[in-house]
Amino acid sequence: MKIVFATHNQNKIKEVKLLLSNNIKILSLNDINCNELINETGNSLVENAWIKSNYVKTKYGYDCFSDDTGLEIESLGGEPGVKSARYSGIYSTDKKNIDLVLKLMKNKTNRNAQFRTCIALIINDNKELFEGIVKGKIIHQRKGKNGFGYDSIFIPNGLKKTFAEMDLSEKNKISHRGIALKKLSNYFHNSNY
Ligand code: IMP
Repeated sequence: MKIVFATHNQNKIKEVKLLLSNNIKILSLNDINCNELINETGNSLVENAWIKSNYVKTKYGYDCFSDDTGLEIESLGGEPGVKSARYSGIYSTDKKNIDLVLKLMKNKTNRNAQFRTCIALIINDNKELFEGIVKGKIIHQRKGKNGFGYDSIFIPNGLKKTFAEMDLSEKNKISHRGIALKKLSNYFHNSNY
């Protein structure tokens, strides 16, 4: 079975290939010659995931799945959420985004937050949504050098180190994306794909 994972990010493709059965051939957007950027104009992670999957299915005709992830911080009303990649403006970098979060959180006592990944799948005219959530706390300053995004300021509940202090396989076992991908993998397995 062939399916498109609607991303240009080769790291994500690698991660997904490791998790899914070898019977499933994963194609990236580059593999189907989709070189344009798909505009993620939705107001939620779920909407953005569907925008990408619907785009690929409609324009290229492939069965596909897409993911969208965000960090949701309780005392910031769920922000950065769907704005996670661009929280500090159009010239956002991971560094600027973290600086902004730490500034907004400076006097907040409620440090609860969660990463959420949504995966939207279109296969044989069925549509399925999978979600992975990991709950944790935002710390006051960066710790750790691994990972990306907001990894260095997030400690999952029950643990003592940030995502940026873990190696990738350690993070994937408990992460939002790992959980959502596991659900996708189980779906393929149970549907005999
Ligand atoms: P995307 O939907 O996977 O492209 O993620 C959107 C943004 O959320 C990224 O640009 C990062 O800022 C943040 N993000 C996504 N996944 C992670 C993660 O695993 N750790 C830390 N930040 C993440």
